[in-house]
Amino acid sequence: MDFLRDVLVVWLLAQSMFCTGQEEDNFVFVILNQESSLHYNAAQQLASNISLQSKQLGVPCVVHVSSEDWPTLATWTYFPLLERLSDQHGSNSSWVVLLEEWTTVRLEKLLGILQHYSPTLPLFIGRAVKDREETIIHHFARVDHDHPFLYPDSRAGMVLSVPLLNRLAQRWSNTSMQISSDFTIDAQYEFAKFVQSCETELSHHEGFCMQEKPGCAVVFNPTRKCEEVVQAHDIHFAVKSCTQFHAERLPIIQATWLKDATNYAIYSDVEDAAFGTVSLGIPNTERGHCGKTMAIIRRVAQLTSVQWLAVVDDDTLISVSRLRTLLSCYNSKDLVALGEKYGYGATTARGYSYITGGGGMIFSKTLVEQLAKPGMCECPSNDIPDDMFLGMCLKHASVPIIHSSLFHQGRPVDYPEELLEGELPVSFHRYWMLEPMQAFARWLDDNSPAGDSSSDIHSEL
Ligand SMILES: *[C@@H]1O[C@H](CO)[C@@H](O)[C@H](O)[C@H]1NC(C)=O
Ligand SMILES: *[C@@H]1O[C@H](CO)[C@@H](O)[C@H](O)[C@H]1NC(C)=O
Ligand SMILES: *[C@@H]1O[C@H](CO)[C@@H](O)[C@H](O)[C@H]1NC(C)=O
Repeated sequence: MDFLRDVLVVWLLAQSMFCTGQEEDNFVFVILNQESSLHYNAAQQLASNISLQSKQLGVPCVVHVSSEDWPTLATWTYFPLLERLSDQHGSNSSWVVLLEEWTTVRLEKLLGILQHYSPTLPLFIGRAVKDREETIIHHFARVDHDHPFLYPDSRAGMVLSVPLLNRLAQRWSNTSMQISSDFTIDAQYEFAKFVQSCETELSHHEGFCMQEKPGCAVVFNPTRKCEEVVQAHDIHFAVKSCTQFHAERLPIIQATWLKDATNYAIYSDVEDAAFGTVSLGIPNTERGHCGKTMAIIRRVAQLTSVQWLAVVDDDTLISVSRLRTLLSCYNSKDLVALGEKYGYGATTARGYSYITGGGGMIFSKTLVEQLAKPGMCECPSNDIPDDMFLGMCLKHASVPIIHSSLFHQGRPVDYPEELLEGELPVSFHRYWMLEPMQAFARWLDDNSPAGDSSSDIHSEL
């Protein structure tokens, strides 16, 4: 009898050790990748890495790669995923882990972290960041310092319990029509606001990391092995200016980044000998600059010695050397559109995404030639917003926008410091209440002693 009892005990112990097939342990990983071969390959590698780890640990899991599984959905806003994930996994899984492609996952550590949470509760876990002051990128939403609103840094991954997923999916199906007509500016923030509207707040956990340290379960890992750095001369920098701002703004870009750009032109409504501006024959407009930008695109399409076009404002600060490094990861013969991605009604069939202009719009020469073709992208009027209209043209031409968190529509102070960690930024925008020379030295100039970029930031882009 004793022998039988011992066998039973051993068997029961083994069951509890290996009984990972029960519902509580089922994981769904979603890799939200950008649409280009570079990003897709990284997503594939991460997916097979996670699958291997899950086999080794005996943890059942499903891995989705967004560009493959939902190629037509605006998954980058998160919302269209909710109902799909809930329908497919809402009754047989416990955790949904949202990742980007430049990530290392340590599944065993992740299991260890999630053991301390109950998968039957609505839970939202990640690397929490918060605004220190009201900021334009969040529509100047009031900041409550006693009870700050926490939102996730999506680069470090985030976890939803399935009860939360199901609740969000239901609420989204109830309210999607109201939200869908709006702008998407900061997807991770706007998603967290929606989660908050379902009475759930983000829980911060140190295991979701921007930099390698002990205990990290998910780590941002931006290592990209790319070809030779793009030559400065291969990038045509097109600066959009107008008479009103020549004296105020052009000396600033001349003293900062323009000297690193060997191939550029300042496009204005007049030819100003003092600054060597080029007139495109388009009168200045108060509002958007569609006419001006399309004239630039048509002109650059004719330039033979150019591989890339960077369209920037006269109050954009940009690092030419970091852009050159970044572009070495892409092929200028492909249709490439790169920058900070925003959306307008992005979750609806009629909506679209676009590159927000102030942070810099980067196009491959092949795409420039395509956009310059008659009928491809004709502005309905000169003064509609160029960046949004280009987004519509790109959608029409089925050219995906590659989002990069290195480009910024706002000033450095408009972002929580945590979001500026871990990567070397490529651009910022606007001089309002800012000392632009100092901001450039601090955030964008690799040669400046004021910059602290070398110390605690990955040197790869
Ligand atoms: C997963 O990727 C990490 C980081 O690249 C690597 O150290 C680890 O060995 C990989 N695991 C498997 C199972 O492939
Ligand atoms: C749950 O069920 C769906 C089909 O209903 C299946 O695709 C999925 O692999 C199952 N497992 C998990 C972990 O979601
Ligand atoms: C969605 O709407 C239904 C019916 O109006 C309601 O019963 C349910 O509570 C709503 N769910 C959420 C999460 O708002």
